Amino acid sequence: MIDANFEEMNSRSVSNIIQLGGTILKTARCEAFRTAAGRQQAYDHVKAAGIDALIAIGGDGTFSGAEIFSREFTIPVVCIPGTIDNDLYGSDFTLGFDTATNTVIEAIDKIRDTAASHDRLFFVEVMGRDSGCIALNAGIAGGAEAILLPEKATGIQALCSQLESAAKSKKSSTIVIVAEGEENGGAYNVAKEVKQRFDFYDTKVTILGHLQRGGSPSSFDRVLASRLGYAAVRHLLAGQTRIMVGLRGNEIKTTPLEEVLNKKVFKLSEDMLEMMEVLSI
Ligand code: F6P
Repeated sequence: MIDANFEEMNSRSVSNIIQLGGTILKTARCEAFRTAAGRQQAYDHVKAAGIDALIAIGGDGTFSGAEIFSREFTIPVVCIPGTIDNDLYGSDFTLGFDTATNTVIEAIDKIRDTAASHDRLFFVEVMGRDSGCIALNAGIAGGAEAILLPEKATGIQALCSQLESAAKSKKSSTIVIVAEGEENGGAYNVAKEVKQRFDFYDTKVTILGHLQRGGSPSSFDRVLASRLGYAAVRHLLAGQTRIMVGLRGNEIKTTPLEEVLNKKVFKLSEDMLEMMEVLSI
């Protein structure tokens, strides 16, 4: 919008992309959009191009921009939750989370072969600066012995006690999932601290990084993307604005944008946190 880089699209413009990750629009975080002058320029271009509504797909950064833009200028805006972090209020799931979690599980399964064959202790770092959703879900689905999350402090001492009981129960492999934003400073730091206390462990670190942000979307994400895109257009046509469309209890529901931005989410259910500790014994 800022560069007036518009291209008219129709149904055929999205041919053969349902199986792809990434974005054909090449949209990304944009510093200029944080300034009033940048947004004014964007609006002038949008108006001149005859664009009469916007659909913004992204996480809280995208939504904050969309919210300010729709307040400053009279243009209808509907948002779609798209982030692997799954950390938005108003939708049980965000686009990309399921695919990213499946990628992590596939990696854990492969790492487990080496961990089990050679009695090694692996620290696998997954994405999530402020959100432990990928770590918790992939950790449970991948059978991890311990999971370190940004939302829940687990000191090195507590982790070491967990590892000690795993060793006592004669586990042949141990996998610890470390969310990138957890308090101990990431997988390398955690591995170093643990090694200092238990030098008999053969420790290894794997950082999954941007592997988690690409690849062919899961069927769940494809269906959810289709449902949310369809709903976003329907709501715009019905005259709605400043809302997010989301999935709640397998139904598409809308939430006012302000509420999405102002309400804190905690998507790590207490049940799952408790279960994680029991299952890892
Ligand atoms: O916000 C989503 C997220 O995938 C985080 O989990 C991760 O920390 C970050 O984006 C990575 O962003 P970038 O690709 O800019 O390094």
